[in-house]
Amino acid sequence: MRTKIVAGNWKMHKNAEETEDLLNDLIDKLPDDKEVRIIVAPAFVNLASAVDHLEFTNIGVAAQNMHQSESGAYTGEVSADMLKSIGVGIVILGHSERRAYFHETDALLASKVVTALKHNLEVIFCFGEELKDRQSGNHFNIVENQLKDGLFHLEAKDLENIILAYEPVWAIGTGETATPEQAQEMHHFIRETINKKYGNIAQDVSILYGGSVKPENAREIFSKPDVDGGLIGGAALKAADFAAIVNGI
Ligand code: G3H
Repeated sequence: MRTKIVAGNWKMHKNAEETEDLLNDLIDKLPDDKEVRIIVAPAFVNLASAVDHLEFTNIGVAAQNMHQSESGAYTGEVSADMLKSIGVGIVILGHSERRAYFHETDALLASKVVTALKHNLEVIFCFGEELKDRQSGNHFNIVENQLKDGLFHLEAKDLENIILAYEPVWAIGTGETATPEQAQEMHHFIRETINKKYGNIAQDVSILYGGSVKPENAREIFSKPDVDGGLIGGAALKAADFAAIVNGI
């Protein structure tokens, strides 16, 4: 049985006070009778307070990024050890905004994944094609290469600590969602690609969908057999919407 997961990526939103307010609101509103793992990813500066705040809840805390090196003269960066030292157990790597605006390549992400796993961080590994790739029919190739170049240096046992997040770039923050059928088709392809390389363990890997998931469309997307939950951006910033999405699992 794969774990169902709903994760909220808060991106560069919410200051310290707003973070506490949203966490309190989430604690009030999130259902506790669902077989679903819930994760939130506030900004770096609010991670320690989020970990404290959520200590006695079943809500996990993820960082949105980390550096690939152990430590060093990398002004402005945050290491895996720093995250672990404040109780963060999960890190999002490879988000399309990191790839596009901060020029993160598959090779760089491959090394970030190694560092994260070495420090016993779970990784939410994001990938997905751009609009031009979908329009040219090249989306399966792009996704296959992102998986190969970013993850296929790992051993099968490492997959226990990897959560995949397929996020078509054209659906992120645009209001345009992949149809449930498009999501299922790609998630199935992703699982097959993992299966070809690693065998049956592919059945145990959770694959999340991300891109304009909202309370109105979550249930139908999550109903697809290879969609194991979502990575939510905009709709994760309002507790009522995030809770409604969790209820769609
Ligand atoms: O990490 C989350 C994704 O970028 C999805 O963002 O739900 O605002 O489209 P969105």
